Amino acid sequence: MNLKDLYINYFISKGHKQIPSAPVVPENDSSVLFNTAGMQPLIPYLMGQTHPYGTRLCDYQKCIRTNDLDSIGDKTHHTFFEMLGNWSLGDYFKEESIAYSFEFLTSVLNIPIEKLAMTVYEGDASIPRDEVSANAWMSHGVKKERIAYLDASNNFWIAGESGPCGGDTEIFYWRSDDPVPEKFDPEDERWVEIWNNVFMEYYKAPDGSVSVLPKKNVDTGMGLERVVAVLEGVDDNYLSSVWIDVIKKIESFATLTYSENPKSIRIIADHIRTAVFILADHSGIKPSNTDQGYILRRLIRRAIRHAKKLGIDINSSWEQEIALMIIDKYAKYYSELTENKAVVLENLQVEKVKFNRTLEKGLREFEKITNNITDGNLNRDLAFKLYDTYGFPIELTEELAREKGIVVDVAGFKEKFKAHQELSRTASQGKFKGGLAGNGEIETKYHTATHLLNAALKQVVGPDVHQKGSNITDERMRFDFSCDHKLTDEEKIAVENLVNQWIKDEIEVTKKKMSKEDALKSGAECMFIEKYPDVVTVYSVGDVSHELCGGPHVNNTRELGTFKIKKEEASSAGVRRIKAVLE
Ligand code: SER
Repeated sequence: MNLKDLYINYFISKGHKQIPSAPVVPENDSSVLFNTAGMQPLIPYLMGQTHPYGTRLCDYQKCIRTNDLDSIGDKTHHTFFEMLGNWSLGDYFKEESIAYSFEFLTSVLNIPIEKLAMTVYEGDASIPRDEVSANAWMSHGVKKERIAYLDASNNFWIAGESGPCGGDTEIFYWRSDDPVPEKFDPEDERWVEIWNNVFMEYYKAPDGSVSVLPKKNVDTGMGLERVVAVLEGVDDNYLSSVWIDVIKKIESFATLTYSENPKSIRIIADHIRTAVFILADHSGIKPSNTDQGYILRRLIRRAIRHAKKLGIDINSSWEQEIALMIIDKYAKYYSELTENKAVVLENLQVEKVKFNRTLEKGLREFEKITNNITDGNLNRDLAFKLYDTYGFPIELTEELAREKGIVVDVAGFKEKFKAHQELSRTASQGKFKGGLAGNGEIETKYHTATHLLNAALKQVVGPDVHQKGSNITDERMRFDFSCDHKLTDEEKIAVENLVNQWIKDEIEVTKKKMSKEDALKSGAECMFIEKYPDVVTVYSVGDVSHELCGGPHVNNTRELGTFKIKKEEASSAGVRRIKAVLE
């Protein structure tokens, strides 16, 4: 059995419920482009909200980290990875969590205790040294010398600047044939971190103030790729069973072998896998020049460029075959890969054909440009030409330049890029009326309708209904909300009638700036309070609705037309989804 199944089965046997992996693009959290950790989709529950599956959870979560994209190509980095995690939401705490980790590692994975070491939090002025965790480890036979006390930079965990947080204990494995030293030295790189148990007791607000969470939680995370490599005794993750067949497949298309150019082969393996998962995600991301779409475009284009370096025939179906292999490998765990297989394959090909049309000429142009450079600097105009005419993402130009010891004026490029964008925005405003930015007239109407729907659901279904997400296009609105049942026809009709009544009532929409505190006191609705700045805008539709929101909204509900629910369906456990239109 593989690690993923062993892990999930173990925690299920300890009373945990398995939760599905959340999409790679977060649904209710626009502060990040992709989910970067298993705990991210669970933040509301770590903050105190009741989880429909209970207080003991486990999962494998798709994660994407693109902050160190340039490191991809070495032995250990990946843009996409799977994180195994188990959580206690106000249920068990340090001792039980440590007992589970210890038993899983030593009795299920059969790792000898001699090969393990741990770090715990040494504490600070306000938080005591974590003797509870150290004693828990020792009660299982871990020697005192194998436990190191470290400071907050090592053993205090928080996702970003603010959010739920706490001290943690990290588990290390001795990855070397050298004899295991008696005393654990966390600086010795032969010790590799394999698991992180965070004891979340605090909440750090954006202003830096720290408060105690309503419940004490445990959040653990184990990076699957790393642990599989460690257990299989390879120091190159790409040679573990997670990757080896993909590496061999890429080799079969290339004129160079893995040992001749491991970097390019790893980049292709990593980038195609990530592209497959982004394209298969329910969020419907396609290659583009903004946000997630731009990351996707960069990944595909960089993979193509490295395929060229390996002598792969770009016009052959190499990328399709690699993608198919990845889909097959993961289909059992992620049904969206099978559901969206056609979308994945088509988009990979379309993007390849698009880029390949200009790649050859662009590379020649790049050579010409760089052969004439005498001062080691590639200026912004040339970088922009490579982007605009040949479709080279600036990061690709940078990478090419780096290989020749040339520095690109990236800041200059960005300025020029921005000026260019503004120009084309002005030029297209007539045509699109700003609809592309999501702030067009129609989107604005849907935005206000979203507030009305939220309020109507609360009146018809009950005050426990809360918004879980929303998405607006110029054709429809989508609204996710907490609710434990499928809406009845009567409820749907009542909701529709109520919204239409408010539209007929010609209610004025007003906005008011106020402190977050006052907004909350006034009972204004919001999805996720800690995401908002200290001064917030509250939009009110008469007495019907008050919500924290960035806008924009219509001035009066009469502008909305007729509201119609098109579909009501399950979104995830305890969450329903409505699709509606304004006619
Ligand atoms: N949040 C912690 C991590 O990402 C544990 O899951 O390492």
